[in-house]
Amino acid sequence: MRRLLVTGGAGFIGSNFVRFVVERTDASVIVLDAMTYAASPEALADLPGDRVEVVQGDITDAALVDELVGRLSGPHDAVVHYAAESHNDNSLQDPSPFVQTNIVGTFTILEAVRRHGVRLHHISTDEVYGDLELDDPERFTESTPYRPSSPYSASKAGADHLVRAWVRSFGVAATVSNCSNNYGPWQHVEKFIPRQITNLLEGGRVKLYGSGENVRDWIHADDHSSAVLTILDKGEIGRTYLIGADGEKSNLQVVRLILEQLGHEPDDFDQVMDRPGHDLRYAIDSTRLRQELGWAPQFSSFEEGLARTIDWYAEHRDWWGPKKAATEAAYAAKGQ
Ligand code: NAD
Ligand code: DAU
Repeated sequence: MRRLLVTGGAGFIGSNFVRFVVERTDASVIVLDAMTYAASPEALADLPGDRVEVVQGDITDAALVDELVGRLSGPHDAVVHYAAESHNDNSLQDPSPFVQTNIVGTFTILEAVRRHGVRLHHISTDEVYGDLELDDPERFTESTPYRPSSPYSASKAGADHLVRAWVRSFGVAATVSNCSNNYGPWQHVEKFIPRQITNLLEGGRVKLYGSGENVRDWIHADDHSSAVLTILDKGEIGRTYLIGADGEKSNLQVVRLILEQLGHEPDDFDQVMDRPGHDLRYAIDSTRLRQELGWAPQFSSFEEGLARTIDWYAEHRDWWGPKKAATEAAYAAKGQ
């Protein structure tokens, strides 16, 4: 039976992947998560204890990582490395934990998989490629040069480079995926879509950075999970795969959809201070993943996925409510 060590498995996307694996395979999972402010252990609470073991700990703790990676062996076991500081705005306030977790943490994981000869799948982001012009006909591909803009994306780029170097220099059996913007249940209320939904659910207003012309390429977290499982099963060692679902939308379009679905007027939003260095557009060409590995996203309609996400937030106030006031106070202090 396959065993997976999932770092960051209590976060938004990591917990989605753990659930996805438990529901669709017979694998057992060890979650290693530091349980930072971004973690949601609640997202794992109903999963069977004999399939999912949760270990609270830091990926920069070399002894702990070594012990957990040492429990894996064989061609089907793997470390799936999601743990990261993930929010751009936070990286502009204090880059230090981003360098520690995203770079030093990835280094720590790489050294452990190298010692134990264990397969690694490293989760990364499309932001390592920088941004595109709104009218650029090209999208990001696996050969687009790295050009990260923020401390967050630079730290993820640094981690990707370490993984590639460990593959080439030490023969570590690793694959990398770079995915576009995820949405779905359990995403922290600091992020764009949950922030706007929960603002409206609380009787507040939508907060749009700048003009709202910035474009993100949205994918449901379930589709990200199915892509990662596909890469684990069929991916070629040493290869990078871009994950995307052709979901480009401007922030203004997303805001208007949320407003419409919650029964508000299209201009019921506030334009607030823009993010410094704000990337203009991300767009993924996922041809390699689709053609070589036969993957396809299941969520064909963003509008429908968004409606389900809005319903989920309306039903889970107990989870996000306690996080909301502090998150909004931090934004308000920055004029956002
Ligand atoms: P998240 O912030 O929701 O979750 C991150 C998880 O990592 C949390 O549970 C946190 O407690 C844990 N963590 C943080 N520092 C840790 C440490 N030092 N040791 C152990 N655990 C630690 O993030 P997310 O949005 O779920 O993103 C997960 C991964 O996917 C990240 O690597 C991110 O770069 C990548 N990614 C995210 C998106 C997106 O749209 N959210 C898109 C592409 C790639
Ligand atoms: O592209 C993948 C990346 O997507 C991941 O690597 C990151 O971990 C993830 O956080 C996300 O990064 P973004 O910076 O694109 O996501 P965020 O939700 O912070 O913002 C999405 C867009 O919405 C961005 O253009 C900024 C804008 N925005 C954000 C917030 C929080 C607003 O207009 N208003 C807001 O209140």
